[in-house]
Amino acid sequence: MLVLGIETSCDETGVALFSSRDGLVADKLYSQVEVHSEFGGVVPELASRDHIRKLAPMVKSLLEEADLEGHQIDGVAFTAGPGLAGSLLVGSAFARSLAWAWGVPALGVNHMEGHLLAPMLETDCPEFPFVALLVSGGHTQLIEVEKVGKYKLLGESIDDAAGEAFDKVAKILGLGYPGGPRLAKAAINGDPKRFHFPRPMINKSNLDFSFSGLKTHTARVIELESKDLGEKELLNLKSDVARAFEEAVVDILTNKCIRALNQTNCKTLIMAGGVSANSRLRMNMDRISDKEQIKVIYPRIEFCTDNGAMIAYAGWHRLRLGQKNDLSFHIRPRWPITEIPEI
Ligand code: KG4
Ligand code: ZN
Repeated sequence: MLVLGIETSCDETGVALFSSRDGLVADKLYSQVEVHSEFGGVVPELASRDHIRKLAPMVKSLLEEADLEGHQIDGVAFTAGPGLAGSLLVGSAFARSLAWAWGVPALGVNHMEGHLLAPMLETDCPEFPFVALLVSGGHTQLIEVEKVGKYKLLGESIDDAAGEAFDKVAKILGLGYPGGPRLAKAAINGDPKRFHFPRPMINKSNLDFSFSGLKTHTARVIELESKDLGEKELLNLKSDVARAFEEAVVDILTNKCIRALNQTNCKTLIMAGGVSANSRLRMNMDRISDKEQIKVIYPRIEFCTDNGAMIAYAGWHRLRLGQKNDLSFHIRPRWPITEIPEI
């Protein structure tokens, strides 16, 4: 079975082909960073319009590169949520039109299930059961995964998602959009000894997170410390603050992951979603995995953030078993992973 996957939940247009015989056949990604950067964040209306412009040419060149024709595709998977309503509508209308024209089934995929399954596209594929840390711009969740489609929520952020906190703190520091990678870059030269930031809820035995207090703390430190500073000192302050913030987030995430593994008796952890691209998080996790004798698996860097490959793959798991949506199926801008139908 050959599945076309289409991702348009936010500010990336992703298209990919996944086949039962050959695995991931081809994928293409276009990032809207330039469209939104002058506004310091994603502008939903501009995002939808840009998806409209990009989808058809991207699918055309994807098929050309894979030397395939539309009529060879057996199903179309698209991101149905969670995400920006306008952007989801563009992807869903486009995907369903293609499926209708080709006479094949269409299926709405949960974006977070896509992230969660992305590590399974790697050669070092995790074995079930495992614990998944989903850390993106909208979610910070720990999930126990029994098999594809069977997910138990162990804990989640009670306020901001980790990626959202990265983005907001980057804004406070004047680093602009996209915040996460820019903050991580600024933190490289930061002095790790200058500040020690609080780690909210780290000692609570539950598996929930809280990041909004850390964001407020960061804002306060900048306000207090930045008075009367020269250009170079201000730059140093921002790097040091970025470093302290990043270390705190990494510490919290790592700590809760180990706790989740202990509570579930799982030996494998997967990390997925945009924040799992963070080098310090990966480094820290790798260091601790040796000590705790656990296995940590991530997707390749380009599949940590939004992409079409994870949607093609998650959709293939369901389409091959006959799951599909009829024309009455709507997008779901808020769609908890715990409300996905079982396979
Ligand atoms: O998964 P994703 O591409 O989109 C969502 O589903 O939200 O995640 C985007 C989030 C953003 O908040 C972004 O700032 C964060 O992931 N991010 C990072 C890094 N790369 C992306 N955060 C920290 N370090 C990074 N290297
Ligand atoms: Zn995402």
